[in-house]
Amino acid sequence: MSSDSPLPMLGGLSAAEFLRDYWQQKPVLIRGAFPDFQCPLDPDELAGLACEEGVEARLVEAQGPWRVSHGPFDEQTFARLPERDWTLLVQAVDHYVPEAAELLEHFTFLPRWRLDDIMISYAPPGGSVGPHVDQYDVFLLQGLGQRRWQLGGRVPDDAPILPGIDLRILERFEVAPGDDWILEPGDMLYLPPGWAHHGVSESDDCLTLSVGFRAPSADEAIASFADFLGDKLPPSLRYADAGMAPPEDAGELDDAAVERMRRLILETLDDPARLAQWFGRVMTQPKYVDQLVPNEQPTDPAELVATLQDGEELLRSPGSRFAWRDLGNDRATLFADGDGAECALPLAQVLASDAPLDAELLEFDGAAELLAALLDAGSLTWADEFEEE
Ligand code: SIN
Ligand code: CO
Repeated sequence: MSSDSPLPMLGGLSAAEFLRDYWQQKPVLIRGAFPDFQCPLDPDELAGLACEEGVEARLVEAQGPWRVSHGPFDEQTFARLPERDWTLLVQAVDHYVPEAAELLEHFTFLPRWRLDDIMISYAPPGGSVGPHVDQYDVFLLQGLGQRRWQLGGRVPDDAPILPGIDLRILERFEVAPGDDWILEPGDMLYLPPGWAHHGVSESDDCLTLSVGFRAPSADEAIASFADFLGDKLPPSLRYADAGMAPPEDAGELDDAAVERMRRLILETLDDPARLAQWFGRVMTQPKYVDQLVPNEQPTDPAELVATLQDGEELLRSPGSRFAWRDLGNDRATLFADGDGAECALPLAQVLASDAPLDAELLEFDGAAELLAALLDAGSLTWADEFEEE
């Protein structure tokens, strides 16, 4: 589909219009973004997930002072909760519920590697996490029941937050005129980073899906890129001051010295090819590294070929992340779960899409070895093994 076609889930805006006028800039409410929306799971299933080891879950209680507790929870936790004013939040539901993961395919008008996860919240009436700001873009899709959303506009980084709790609740929150809506199932609110918002459940069973995006901060990016470059730089590449003028005062750190250091740092960092290799790796790093289950026995590529030719299919493991970068000459780097491998460009393109992974892939040179390596790393699984789990 062309980026100029109207998308029903964007309220008839085209991807190009949404990206030009709203993405990272201002909120937009889309009534009926998903008409007749079928929520991918019910409140009991969400509570069940929150009781599982390894699933990131939080409970926010708002009666009396704010309280946050972390999962896994058990039946007693839910039995003691009052009839209102609490919220259960479960992270990365798309990793556990295939129907939730399928929703992500509606968001391919954005790069896939920008997507982070789908968090789902459940709340009885009055449940909320308080007025706050997130540092990421989010689509808040109402799954079940009603939630009232109020927006408070852009907030500076240093806006005061309530002290003493493990939540970043804004001390001051003023609703911007008109930015106050009740969302019904299938309605969706897009929020850019840094926009104050407050969502309160208005019904018995309120489920809200947050489709969140990732964007490394400058702080994280610089530290991580420097770390990536670190082991590739020769020890002889260092501060050098051959030919310098004699110092006027031996105690001074002068402009020329600062400039030499600045050049060393900027010229070393300014390496687009290495930067692309690092960037693909960070953006495909899995949210939970221990969710990747590497194979104990290395896969024999010849056996893999035979199995694919028998009609078996491979699946991308839930939570696995893929992206590709064109290297020219019909070659690419395929990034998978924080790693990178060179391969045929069309092979990388298929792997990083949602197309089926079957025997047709074998027409590409080196496919068997790459697929075996991805299987061994845990980024791919055999479809039949996945269904048995
Ligand atoms: C919620 O679902 O209760 C909170 C989601 C958010 O504000 O980011
Ligand atoms: Co939020």
